[in-house]
Amino acid sequence: MAMNFVNSISVVSTYLLFFISISSVCRADETSGSSFIFGDSLVDAGNNNYLSTLSKANIQPNGIDFKASRGNPTGRYTNGRTIGDIVGEELGQPSYAIPFLSPNATGKAILNGVNYASGGGGIMNETGKIFVNRLSMDIQIDYFNITRKQLDGLLGSSKAREFLMKKAIFSITVGSNDFLNNYLLPVLSVGERISENPNAFINHLITNLRGQLTRLYNLDARKFVVGNVGPIGCIPYQKTINQLNQDQCVELPNKLALQYNGRLKDLLTELNENLPGAKFVLANVYDLVMGLIINYAKYGFKTSSAACCGNGGQFSGIIPCGPTSTMCKDRSKYVFWDPYHPSEAANLIIAKQLIDGDTKIISPINLRQLRDL
Ligand SMILES: *[C@@H]1O[C@H](CO)[C@@H](O)[C@H](O)[C@H]1NC(C)=O
Ligand SMILES: *[C@@H]1O[C@H](CO)[C@@H](O)[C@H](O)[C@H]1NC(C)=O
Ligand SMILES: *[C@@H]1O[C@H](CO)[C@@H](O)[C@H](O)[C@H]1NC(C)=O
Repeated sequence: MAMNFVNSISVVSTYLLFFISISSVCRADETSGSSFIFGDSLVDAGNNNYLSTLSKANIQPNGIDFKASRGNPTGRYTNGRTIGDIVGEELGQPSYAIPFLSPNATGKAILNGVNYASGGGGIMNETGKIFVNRLSMDIQIDYFNITRKQLDGLLGSSKAREFLMKKAIFSITVGSNDFLNNYLLPVLSVGERISENPNAFINHLITNLRGQLTRLYNLDARKFVVGNVGPIGCIPYQKTINQLNQDQCVELPNKLALQYNGRLKDLLTELNENLPGAKFVLANVYDLVMGLIINYAKYGFKTSSAACCGNGGQFSGIIPCGPTSTMCKDRSKYVFWDPYHPSEAANLIIAKQLIDGDTKIISPINLRQLRDL
């Protein structure tokens, strides 16, 4: 409509035309919806490229199937799109949420969403210390607070508020590193964690996450999707270092994940009751990924135990994916791209379930319903 209107008044002064086209472009961006993405390497789209860190994915062959970069690495920890990319695309966003640390994350580009996720990051500040640098959740939210002010500048404060409350989906994919690169690495984690029992550690995680989600709410976030922790005892890295068989998983990491996931479910129920106008949706990543791992053949995969790209041991699970790694022939036949992360083929199945799946997978509503609220 706006476009026809602009076309039909081509006789008016160029100044007026310019003004009208700018405002119609702005309107298009505001109505198409956007995602603000928080979390770890499962959804990092390039923030770690700008950090001096040992957790990097901007090396080949990562990104080999990522069309937007013509197969060049972007900092995504997979061969193609992340779950966050696919969800954004399917829900109608015109472009991928831009990494906050990218110099391009300025001006109107941020109306399509911003990605704050960082490989190695976690709920706790100390998580991922072995990588030297990474953005923990608290810092990611500090950065969103900067974006929040930029949105006020772009749209004016009342429209910015409405945009965030109605058009923006806040996704949080975090927690795996708090176990893999913190709690389960007692030697490298801070002293106090060593003596904590699982219950106390998980209490800590939930308390911090409650504070973090509430901070986002106070910055006008209303539509949330929070992923639970996947079966981290079944990733090629864990299976390789523990010398398991194909169909075995390491018990303790999975047990911790399930314990945390139960508490996360309660937390989101509590927040749905206590924060007026907010909708917190739980993404059951654990069951989704476990389903792919067990029923891999049914989904057309050749294996769910070996990494496509990696080296070392029976499942190529010790040395991360990089230029010297071996890589599988058919990347669409592997559930895992590397020792830690799902392939694009797996991400596609997961994302589609989150968008249109039922309450066993995504509850109380799915992402399409969340967008349309
Ligand atoms: C920034 O945008 C320019 C122009 O679209 C593009 O060529 C460049 O690759 C982008 N840089 C990053 C780091 O994304
Ligand atoms: C984590 O770091 C942030 C930002 O540096 C700080 O504000 C916060 O208090 C820290 N949290 C904990 C639990 O130490
Ligand atoms: C956002 O930043 C402002 C300072 O610019 C600060 O007063 C406010 O507490 C911050 N909000 C959150 C939720 O961190």
